[in-house]
Order: sequence, then C-alpha cells, then structure tokens
Amino acid sequence: MFEELNDIKFKCEQCKKCPLYKTKTNTVFSGGTPNSKIMLIGEAPGEQEDLQGSPFVGRSGQLLDKILECVGFYREKNIYICNTIKCRPPHNRNPLPEEKQACREYLDAQIEILKPKIILLCGAVSVASMIPSNTLGITKIHGKWFDGPNGAKMMPIFHPAYLLRNPSNEVGKPKWQMWQDIKEVKKLYDTLK
Ligand code: URA
Repeated sequence: MFEELNDIKFKCEQCKKCPLYKTKTNTVFSGGTPNSKIMLIGEAPGEQEDLQGSPFVGRSGQLLDKILECVGFYREKNIYICNTIKCRPPHNRNPLPEEKQACREYLDAQIEILKPKIILLCGAVSVASMIPSNTLGITKIHGKWFDGPNGAKMMPIFHPAYLLRNPSNEVGKPKWQMWQDIKEVKKLYDTLK
C-alpha cells in the first residue's frame, strides 16, 4: 500500500496537467496515516499547506485537529487527510473545474488504494466532487450518510474555515452541529471491524 501511494505521490509531484504546478511551492499530497479506516477530503491547499507540503496545517487545520481529537481521532493514528486538488490555487480561490478534473486521478487512486470505510467530505468543494448529483447546500446535508466508493459511507461536514467565521458554541449553531456530526462518525467507526 505504501509503495503504491508513494508512486502516485511521485507522479503528482511531477504533474503538469493543469497550470497550478507553476505557482505552487509544494505539492500537498496527504497527511495522517494511510493505515486508517477514515479518509477526510478537504478542498485545496491554502498558504500554509503550500509552504509546508501538508494538508490542514494552518488555522483551519488546528481547529480540525481539535474537533477530531474530541472523539479520539488523531492524524498519526487513525485518519488520512487529503484534498480534492493537490496544488494551491492562487489567492486561495476555489479550484476550477478543469483543475479538479486534472487532479481527479490522484484522488481516485488514493481512495482505491486505501479503501476507507468512512469518507468525510469537508466543505462544499469536496461534496461537489464526491456527490456530483447533489444540489443541496452543505447546511442541509451535513451529518447525513451517503454511499461512496467500495462500500464506503460518506458524510459531508462543515469546513473548519466556516466554523472559524461562526465561532459561537451555542446549541444549534454550526460548531454545535459539527460536534453532533463527529459524534455520529465516531459511532459508526466504533462498529467497524
Ligand atoms: N483547507 C482545505 O480545504 N484544505 C487544506 O489542506 C487546508 C485548508
């Protein structure tokens, strides 16, 4: 598994299928451990991710870690993290359809090699990539389970950047909803062999 992933990572680092290779500092292939039943798919690398070559290492990433750790999920131990695209779009704009298309083979390969049982779709861009038929906003479908590749269960969750913009801990607010969603994820995780 590790060798296969390394081959894809190498391919990704050499990739010139879209123009983002010209402006990136580092390719952001993955973080966490491949030896995991859970994969989290974010949107695209931001500034810190581009500089450090790892996903979710900026402010959003720190909040994400805190949320995951509340239910006992740790990057080093039980979660694999990647993004829909592996190179940072300039000024953190959303990835363009052609960029997502060009990068899709790497995401598909990651899913195929890892065969995660649970896939968390973090943010609207990730949901649009993995559930293209969906027309509802993430505020409507977060916390619900969808069927994914190889029998995986996929759940849309809020992006931590959205939670940073909506910091209230009050019952019913996005942060509280995220907490309910993560507890559901943990419930399913605990039933997995
Ligand atoms: N936001 C994302 O969606 N992914 C990252 O890796 C960092 C921030």
